[in-house]
Amino acid sequence: MKLFKSLAVLAGCVTAAEFTNCITCEFTSVADNESAAKTALKASPCGTPVSPDTFNGLKFTESGSDDDEKYCVAVFYMFEAKDIGNKVVYGVKRYVSDSAVSLSRVDVEGYEGVKGIASSQKQSVVGTTVDDAVVTLPYFVDREDNGVLYMGDGREDPITTGDVSTVNIQTFDSIRCLVCHDAQEFSTAPLQSSDITMPCWNPSGNVFATDDESARDPTKYCSSTNGLCMTKTWQYKTENTADVVTSHWVAIERGCAPDSETATLGTSAIALTPNRRALTANMFVRMHAATNTASKAKDNAKYPDSDVSTNTDHGFIDITTDVNNITDQTLVVSSYTATNPFDVRPITPQFMSSDGAGKPDLPPVTSATDELECISCSTPIGNTDSANDCVTAKTTGRVKCKTLACAAITSSYKLGEDATETYYFAKRGCAADPDDGVVDGEQESADDYVVPNGWTNIKQYNQRSTTTNGNTGRSSSISTAVVFDCYSCESSFSTTVSGANPADPIFDSVKEKDTSLCWQTFKPVADSSSSATGTSGSCTGKCFVSAYKYKESTGTTKLPATTFNWFIQRGCDTDMAVLNGETAAPALYGISQTNRVCDYSNGTLCNGLVEGYDTTLEISTQSSRLLQCYSCETAAGNTDPEDACYTVPSTTKAVECPDLSYTSCATTETAYTLNGQNYYGVKRACHKGDHDDSTEAVSGFKNVFSTTTHCTSGSCNKANGKTTDLVVAVESTSTGTTDEPDDSGAAAVFFSGLMTLTLVLLH
Ligand SMILES: *[C@@H]1O[C@H](CO)[C@@H](O)[C@H](O)[C@H]1NC(C)=O
Ligand SMILES: *[C@@H]1O[C@H](CO)[C@@H](O)[C@H](O)[C@H]1NC(C)=O
Ligand SMILES: *[C@@H]1O[C@H](CO)[C@@H](O)[C@H](O)[C@H]1NC(C)=O
Repeated sequence: MKLFKSLAVLAGCVTAAEFTNCITCEFTSVADNESAAKTALKASPCGTPVSPDTFNGLKFTESGSDDDEKYCVAVFYMFEAKDIGNKVVYGVKRYVSDSAVSLSRVDVEGYEGVKGIASSQKQSVVGTTVDDAVVTLPYFVDREDNGVLYMGDGREDPITTGDVSTVNIQTFDSIRCLVCHDAQEFSTAPLQSSDITMPCWNPSGNVFATDDESARDPTKYCSSTNGLCMTKTWQYKTENTADVVTSHWVAIERGCAPDSETATLGTSAIALTPNRRALTANMFVRMHAATNTASKAKDNAKYPDSDVSTNTDHGFIDITTDVNNITDQTLVVSSYTATNPFDVRPITPQFMSSDGAGKPDLPPVTSATDELECISCSTPIGNTDSANDCVTAKTTGRVKCKTLACAAITSSYKLGEDATETYYFAKRGCAADPDDGVVDGEQESADDYVVPNGWTNIKQYNQRSTTTNGNTGRSSSISTAVVFDCYSCESSFSTTVSGANPADPIFDSVKEKDTSLCWQTFKPVADSSSSATGTSGSCTGKCFVSAYKYKESTGTTKLPATTFNWFIQRGCDTDMAVLNGETAAPALYGISQTNRVCDYSNGTLCNGLVEGYDTTLEISTQSSRLLQCYSCETAAGNTDPEDACYTVPSTTKAVECPDLSYTSCATTETAYTLNGQNYYGVKRACHKGDHDDSTEAVSGFKNVFSTTTHCTSGSCNKANGKTTDLVVAVESTSTGTTDEPDDSGAAAVFFSGLMTLTLVLLH
């Protein structure tokens, strides 16, 4: 029946109606598998709006009769996300467009590389009733069904036959949301969203990295199991005992939407009291689609801004009187709940803009909250008095907290088994960041300001309180600290294996060469006759390990051989110069070094491994290749710009440098004009050591310089010497060019310009 109608309209058998409307809605969700996603798209009123009864849950916009020329557009997409167990993320977005969108494969907005299928229908042929409107809209038809319009889900170009697709569903590694929280203090309520500068409010700056390591860090980007990201915003103001407003705070939290979260839509807020503060406040909880990369997740999270024109209420239609009359429906604010899959699950970030020009998207705040009084004190450095009034919390020190949360950090420790003294640390005051996730109780490794330099294994006890002067907590146990020691050693050795393409030697076959026991570490033992790896003693920085392995061919064509080189260094880095990651191995062309650091919080001797693998596998063997450079020099006093070294012919080949210690190719150029004659000097060569570019004065002249440039890729020092705009050389001995006395003049007087050039090149 419906299909008949659709065909009839498409064929133009029904007169175009005056009444014009497009349904606009958007919807994203996650299904267990592809077939469940298709079923959901077919059942979703936004995916396949075939019956007015299913309109509950749809947002729509009303368009006037002047909009006859506009188009109703729908985009469908579907992809598998590996990090949520290959579940299928799917969605549909319907909007009104000024121009037609032909049935085509498109990039889905808000994702990176996710393809969808788009199509449109002119409004003037949409129909007069809800029934008419919906059946002619582009809607989702599974190709496996015997449908009429084959939209598909973005995995392939549109096709119009009913063949079952042989193309696999699109697959992406992840489905992510940015994770962050912030609170910012103002003297008065900020009026414009962009007045709020905390990074989480507008994450577009450099604070949130999107590199691979960050993208996998669940404290930076979460994996959204239900396909939605969540943004919570709230504000509050504080007043002092004289009822004078003392501060105004705006707070935000971003992350993945938990299944049980309720969302706010439109202007209503939810009474979700931020429970880490002595505060009763409302929050806005907004949802938008999680996306497939960290950088897109960061991009999608913009300024919460309630005045943006696209920020219309995402409610549902309540069918009140005439189910067949679109204008007769009322928009009702709805909430997202896990149990109703067709409730509001918008794709587009809600109430957000990239310029923040509107007013902040925050629930209103009316009354001010009293500042919270907290105990305030800290123990002196090296306190050993257990009766210290900060340790006992009996101090009379008080502070008024605008963050509305009190905090206490306490720790008791002895420095070593045999120590007689016990140290007592206590710090009480306002919780600077009540949302930082610190939980009450023992923290395995104390914060750095608690732990004396060079020690580890100290616990701290945390307490947060929203009660007046409630930060009285005290650590119950005494930690026995141990010296923070690092393995400190270096081992560098080689082994040569004959034959073509030999397998990497395993560690056991080379371990007798690891004489400093550095690849495989051995804990220091009381019995000094057993051998152990060297250690640094108390380390006041971080422990590090840097290592690489590479192989080079060392044999001949007849007797092929491969030399395997192993290098490792462990130690204490007091300058904090070593960072986790890969760096170029010093003085070895094309070889990279793996660096790992750990600190007191990882415990003593934490640099005993590079990674948690078997020694043989910890570092993979890199193949080496010698750098190739052009190597030549112009003859002394060369005046030929076509000289084969000055202008290298395309047929000339670069040559291999002698060994891997040559890490750059150098070009030293000296060109000038003297007495109307151009001189072209160049030297090209392999170079080892520092490779900063340099300029040197050429002696005998006041204004001639030789410039040395370096480059680090194969055959890179080929650029032709310059032949135009040569400097007109002024000899140091020339008369009448300078008034300054010139010490070198006396020597230079004996050389002609040509001879000077010769000397420079030989140098
Ligand atoms: C797809 O998931 C649904 C549950 O959502 C399940 O009932 C069905 O068996 C699954 N189909 C396949 C092919 O795994
Ligand atoms: C649809 O409803 C609106 C508002 O209730 C009414 O003004 C209009 O006349 C109705 N249109 C039709 C075709 O019934
Ligand atoms: C040190 O601790 C940090 C934080 O707990 C952890 O991420 C890191 O992997 C640890 N490093 C080592 C070498 O154990």
